[in-house]
Amino acid sequence: MIKFKINDQEISAQPGWTVLEAARQAGIHIPTLCYHEAVEPSGACRLCVVELREGDWSKVVISCMYPVAEGITIYTDSDRVKNVRRWILEMLLSQCPGSPELKTLAAKYGVTGTRFTLGDPEEQCVLCGLCVRVCSQVVGANALATVGRGVHKEIGGAYMKPSEACVACGSCVTVCPTGAMSARLDRVRGLSKIEQAR
Ligand code: SF4
Ligand code: FES
Repeated sequence: MIKFKINDQEISAQPGWTVLEAARQAGIHIPTLCYHEAVEPSGACRLCVVELREGDWSKVVISCMYPVAEGITIYTDSDRVKNVRRWILEMLLSQCPGSPELKTLAAKYGVTGTRFTLGDPEEQCVLCGLCVRVCSQVVGANALATVGRGVHKEIGGAYMKPSEACVACGSCVTVCPTGAMSARLDRVRGLSKIEQAR
């Protein structure tokens, strides 16, 4: 077992675990958006940041990707972590002003507005890619993809057309942290799939 500390608490973890996995096993909460235990982590949302300290030196790392190591010292709620987390939530709020789930999460961390330019007021998708990973790694359908680049990036079927590969299982809707996938699902599965599912 690997021994290290989170918030001054002694933690034991299996080799290969991430800091987030070890924290969850110990009942220590770290907020996440793009993480789900059923799929590989991607580090897309950055919300799970924690502070890794060594003497006077420290750095912020993404806990869902950072592996545990003997003797490291982690803080999940330090001033530095809170600042970075608030900044990330402001960025996400500006990207997705239309998500009530995101607003509720941000408010929990004291973020009720954003200094960044607001995007489409209807937008709910934070492009975390969780729906794509579940469809590929758990369902095995590969019906979803990230389409386009930069500010034009979107989640949908290939070429943003209904996908024949979609089995209308709804797993993507279940894992979506912002509610965005509910509105996108009909675009992915197409009308024939909707009739079959009824
Ligand atoms: S639709 Fe939901 S799960 Fe998919 S990328 Fe957007 S926010 Fe993430
Ligand atoms: S939960 Fe770790 S980067 Fe999103």
